[in-house]
Amino acid sequence: PLTTTGELVARAAADRSAVASFNIITLEHIEAVVAGAESVDAPVVLQVSENAVAFRRGRLLPLARAAVAAAEHAAVPVALHLDHVRSDTLLRQAPDAGFGSVMYDAARLPYADNLAATRAAADWAHAHGLWIEAELGEIGGKDGQGPLDAHAPGARTDPDQARAFVADSGVDALAVAVGTTHAMTTRTAALDHALLERLSAALDVPLVLHGSSGLPDEELAAAVTGGITKVNIGTALNIAMTGAVRKYLTAHPEAVDSRDYLTVGREAMTRAVADVITALRPLPAP
Ligand code: G3H
Ligand code: ZN
Repeated sequence: PLTTTGELVARAAADRSAVASFNIITLEHIEAVVAGAESVDAPVVLQVSENAVAFRRGRLLPLARAAVAAAEHAAVPVALHLDHVRSDTLLRQAPDAGFGSVMYDAARLPYADNLAATRAAADWAHAHGLWIEAELGEIGGKDGQGPLDAHAPGARTDPDQARAFVADSGVDALAVAVGTTHAMTTRTAALDHALLERLSAALDVPLVLHGSSGLPDEELAAAVTGGITKVNIGTALNIAMTGAVRKYLTAHPEAVDSRDYLTVGREAMTRAVADVITALRPLPAP
């Protein structure tokens, strides 16, 4: 059934787990995320980024309608989230399109401008029943800019500044820069565990991890232990899908029916979804 990100994150925070939030681009992504979550009996978030809307020729509704239908028919709770929103026009489409939450992304702006833009977005979101996440610090790696050096000064989220930012903006959750970078194609990122611990202690809103495709399984688990309650994954699905499709087409140069390769791509994404959710689960006590 369709639920909200706020509900799933609150539930995750209560049992010290994290909800996985996957970026969807095609109908196959939607079907794979729902099937993967069902296969491990876990709730999940389907998130549509502003970039994905641009890819869909600027239209939110075709993907949103498909995601709502998939959520309503799912055997597990599924929420819809609008991700990395910079456009106020897109933000305003969220409630009618079935989204219960948005991530408003003004992190590229200087602090005062990020705060002002985020506060205005949060006021609007709350007046329209939306749960809102914002970002402080630069996670980097978006828009083909290449991975930002995660160790660069200014790239990380400062705990004192984060506390003030949350209080002054009124956001419901904060995306923090603690060592991950968007769009990594190797799982070689390392978390700044000490900083994550300080952020967890300093903030009483849920913390969100972006760029999580770059983390190996043990770091995903450590992120949850460290207090992350929403984990965003995008690139890992594309690696799975594109790899499977490439392999299929190489082995079957005579293939014509798009369903043949989309099936293997969708199955590869389904397995990737199940693997991520499993990695986020706490290990059973020995
Ligand atoms: O908001 C989306 C996520 O941060 C996805 O990042 O594509 O590097 O996994 P990723
Ligand atoms: Zn992100």
